[in-house]
Amino acid sequence: MKIGFFDSGIGGLSVLHHALKVFPNEQFLFFADKKHVPYGEKTSEQVLEYTSEAVEFMIENDVKAIVIACNTATSVAITTLREKYDLPIIGMEPAVKKALDENDTMRVLVCATPITVRGKKLKQLIERVDNHHLVDLLPLPQLVRFAETGEFDSKAVTSYLSEELSRFDLTKESSLVLGCTHFNYFKDSFRKLLPDSVKFVDGNEGTVNQLYRKLQENGLLENNRQSIEFYYSKEKVTDEAELKRIDSLFERLDKMFDLK
Ligand code: DGL
Repeated sequence: MKIGFFDSGIGGLSVLHHALKVFPNEQFLFFADKKHVPYGEKTSEQVLEYTSEAVEFMIENDVKAIVIACNTATSVAITTLREKYDLPIIGMEPAVKKALDENDTMRVLVCATPITVRGKKLKQLIERVDNHHLVDLLPLPQLVRFAETGEFDSKAVTSYLSEELSRFDLTKESSLVLGCTHFNYFKDSFRKLLPDSVKFVDGNEGTVNQLYRKLQENGLLENNRQSIEFYYSKEKVTDEAELKRIDSLFERLDKMFDLK
């Protein structure tokens, strides 16, 4: 059976990119909800509805576990989904704990979508781990739109980021948390604007490790030839040009992976 990966768009590929290294013998189904992206600017009710529909579709298509490779959908839907379905469902939340574990004296800048930044889930996480009130929050909705049109390092991206980041004294931040899976594509653009001392932190490795634990616990690890099927809002992607575009996104993620 397959492992389902879900995101509103191409952001989830950054988590899948990591999973492909860890699971050479698993089959994957990747669902990007192209019809409804961006989620971060929708209402919570809409995000819950879209996410539930996607999960339902993946289950009908024989997945044995699901990774919600989207901080926004996790924030809104994970509790409801886990109540409703029996299979392992792994969610993602901004890696605030990881950032504070690495440095708990300097500030930590958490970038995410507006829904994630406003959400109860992130507030509760911050209350739990941010004992010295070091977390700064920055919503960056425009980055999701840039990512979906394949614009990662243009002048427009740099000036958007430069304006948003100018509200913070970056010399006081130890790390920038990529709290939306779409943001991994922009590490080079961020890097140009951040002091060298600010490190990137994301939740991809933690999420994939959690997936591994859940599959193992449930006896669900398999020994197949690795494969991936892509779906855009329930439509299977078969167009060669589109599959090539996905390949080039993986290539970009390869390069971004090396930026620390
Ligand atoms: N990639 C998503 C996340 O991790 C959401 C992007 C969006 O659709 O706004 O939050």
